[in-house]
Amino acid sequence: MLKRLIFGIVATVFFALQLHIDQAFALNVDESLRTVKLNSAGDQLVLSNEELTKGERLFYDTCSQCHNSGRTKSNPNVTLNGSDLANAYPARDNVEAMVDFLINPTSYDGEESIAEIHPNTTRADLFAEMRNYSQEDLEAVSGFVLSAEKIKSSWGRGKVYD
Ligand code: HEC
Repeated sequence: MLKRLIFGIVATVFFALQLHIDQAFALNVDESLRTVKLNSAGDQLVLSNEELTKGERLFYDTCSQCHNSGRTKSNPNVTLNGSDLANAYPARDNVEAMVDFLINPTSYDGEESIAEIHPNTTRADLFAEMRNYSQEDLEAVSGFVLSAEKIKSSWGRGKVYD
């Protein structure tokens, strides 16, 4: 009986603490900063703060070791900045095109597949970290990358997930 009570109290404190931490680290930004390009036709997508926070967490879990602060470790010419994304072929500066990249990544000029060297869901056998990515996860991480340039400070928040 006493054991159960103590367990109950510990569990309650634990969950309350976790909730608090989640809230403290949740992004809460203006709609204008959460609005990104959805596709090349120019449609827009407004991410919720929850989606953006999830995208940020995914980014720091699976992308930041190579793309810290939006740079690209082994290829500094191909960054995640808006202008580099826009000049890729096909342009990767919108959610649909970036999701497509994370399913079938291609070189910057679009000429060849880089599915064996860049994390993607098609070759999840090679990239275990992509195995549990759902379509929503791909959209969230892409949305985060596209909005991170507007929310300058957010790239730097990686530390909290280390
Ligand atoms: C092992 C290192 C590594 C990881 C992990 C990684 N990337 Fe990359 N990424 C690269 C490299 C290298 C390139 C440049 C590829 C090339 O040569 O065109 C790149 C290119 C890209 C591009 C194209 C950029 C442009 O300007 O066209 C996007 C978008 C991208 N990565 C997104 C992501 C996302 C999102 C994640 C996490 C899910 C991720 N990457 C994880 C190394 C990595």
